[in-house]
Amino acid sequence: MKRLENKVALITGGAAGIGKETALLFAKEGAKVVITDIDEEKGHETLDEIKQINTEALFFKHDVSQEEDWKQVVAKIIEEFNKIDILFNNAGIYIIKSIPETNIETWNRLMSINVTGVFLGLKHVLPKMEKKQAGSVINSSSLAGLTGAPGHTLYGASKGAVRVMTKDAAAEYASKGIRINSIHPGYITTEMADYASEITNLSKEELDSTYPLGRMGKPSEVANMALFLASDESSFSTGAEFVIDGGSSAIQ
Ligand SMILES: NC(=O)c1ccc[n+]([C@@H]2O[C@H](COP(=O)([O-])OP(=O)(O)OC[C@H]3O[C@@H](n4cnc5c(N)ncnc54)[C@H](O)[C@@H]3O)[C@@H](O)[C@H]2O)c1
Repeated sequence: MKRLENKVALITGGAAGIGKETALLFAKEGAKVVITDIDEEKGHETLDEIKQINTEALFFKHDVSQEEDWKQVVAKIIEEFNKIDILFNNAGIYIIKSIPETNIETWNRLMSINVTGVFLGLKHVLPKMEKKQAGSVINSSSLAGLTGAPGHTLYGASKGAVRVMTKDAAAEYASKGIRINSIHPGYITTEMADYASEITNLSKEELDSTYPLGRMGKPSEVANMALFLASDESSFSTGAEFVIDGGSSAIQ
């Protein structure tokens, strides 16, 4: 039996990067996958790829910072599949800036996606999981949600908020059969790592060398962790932090 047979998974920011890789893996493992994203073009392209694995897949345009979008997306999934077993709150943006350079508009925009977006996911999906007394939520935090670094006050604050929000929600929902965990990747080779290389003036090779394992992570390595947390194999884990950082936090 496949590891996510008969499960319905919602993955935000699923058009590209880690979300896309996870969507393809979940589909291979038998899940009905719903990806959402603000990028409609990439969303439809990714949906076509997922459908080659499992035809029961959907894409919705969805800005995670907008509560109305959440209401509509959740209603459409319930209409189509009658349940949501897995929520991967993956959508997020990355901005590196010093404190004086961070203006309030930039602060509010990032927080509305990285923090409010995760909260709205919990608010609108948990009641549907509660009806079935089952579910698994994976919240995308970061290594930056565990440790500090220059230029990371804004992003780190958002990912730190996701880390503790995960524990609070896990405590509130444990008795209802719902598990909620956070994942903490180091640099993963998506567009975010390209941006980091550009902003920090460090080449990919230099970024690779900062990891004890000698390289940045791959989207598939995060997808595998998400799969474990989404599946019943992680049945005794909730409110916990799952680090995927090539040993980086071990030496800080
Ligand atoms: N790549 C890394 O190095 C890394 C490290 C740690 C944590 N993370 C976290 O992993 C998650 C995914 O990162 P990634 O590297 O795949 O990024 P990515 O930029 O490759 O993909 C992110 C996707 O989210 C979508 N998105 C952006 N804003 C959105 C919004 N408001 N609503 C819905 N979708 C939106 C984008 O269109 C894009 O398709 C993020 O939460 C990120 O903070 C990434």
